[in-house]
Amino acid sequence: MIELAGVSHQFRIGKRGKERVVPVLHDINLKVEKGEIVAVVGRSGSGKSTLLNLMSGYIRPSSGEIRVGGQNVTKLDEGEWANFRLANYGFIFQSFQLIGSMTAYENVELPLVLKGIGSGERRAKVMKLLEQVGIAEFANHYPSELSGGQQQRVSVARSLILEPPIVLADEPSGSLDSENEKTLLTMIRQLNHELGITFVIITHDEQVASIAHRAIRLQDGRIGGLA
Ligand SMILES: Nc1ncnc2c1ncn2[C@@H]1O[C@H](COP(=O)(O)OP(=O)(O)O)[C@@H](O)[C@H]1O
Ligand SMILES: [Mg+2]
Repeated sequence: MIELAGVSHQFRIGKRGKERVVPVLHDINLKVEKGEIVAVVGRSGSGKSTLLNLMSGYIRPSSGEIRVGGQNVTKLDEGEWANFRLANYGFIFQSFQLIGSMTAYENVELPLVLKGIGSGERRAKVMKLLEQVGIAEFANHYPSELSGGQQQRVSVARSLILEPPIVLADEPSGSLDSENEKTLLTMIRQLNHELGITFVIITHDEQVASIAHRAIRLQDGRIGGLA
């Protein structure tokens, strides 16, 4: 489903002419199969977020090749990446990344609006999903009126609204208490089991890693042994 072959990445920082090169990932070879839940674990600074940002096209590898669903995405331009992300990926973030001026309903609806889906179909889809994640009764609340766990459910619903084959999550339970974390993990397992959604989840958390089929450990930008 996602394949990285010989992927390396270095950031260039500092002013032009006085640039410093910071190598972050080294010769990453990695295959995530369809329907897998893969946890990416490793210390802060080991390159986990960079790895996810490469998979999602927010940064380009310095070398190597990335394939998603059989397609070589290494050379897509910005516009092509935007479409590719919309069609293939849902995202869940530690900080939820909800839009504060929009209700829960509107946040989940937004990807459908961007895709040009009509309002009747949007309404049916959004309400069904809000029900599935257990927050339909909060549809008209703004993020500031919701608890962390409720906001995370909204963000999960938003990540799924376009029925993506792949969900990428960066520390999705990092802002949740253990009760809400449990709910989130149950939801992820269910989505994986029932819909076959592939998950790549960055985490520090043993609980999260424990629901994964496989854990990949990053150490100083290299894939270490099995975690
Ligand atoms: N945009 C950037 N520019 C320069 N250096 C960066 C950038 N993003 C990350 N880094 C560096 O890359 C390394 C890995 O960062 P990151 O992938 O965020 O690690 P993790 O998610 O495992 O904590 C760190 O040393 C970080 O400072
Ligand atoms: Mg990170």
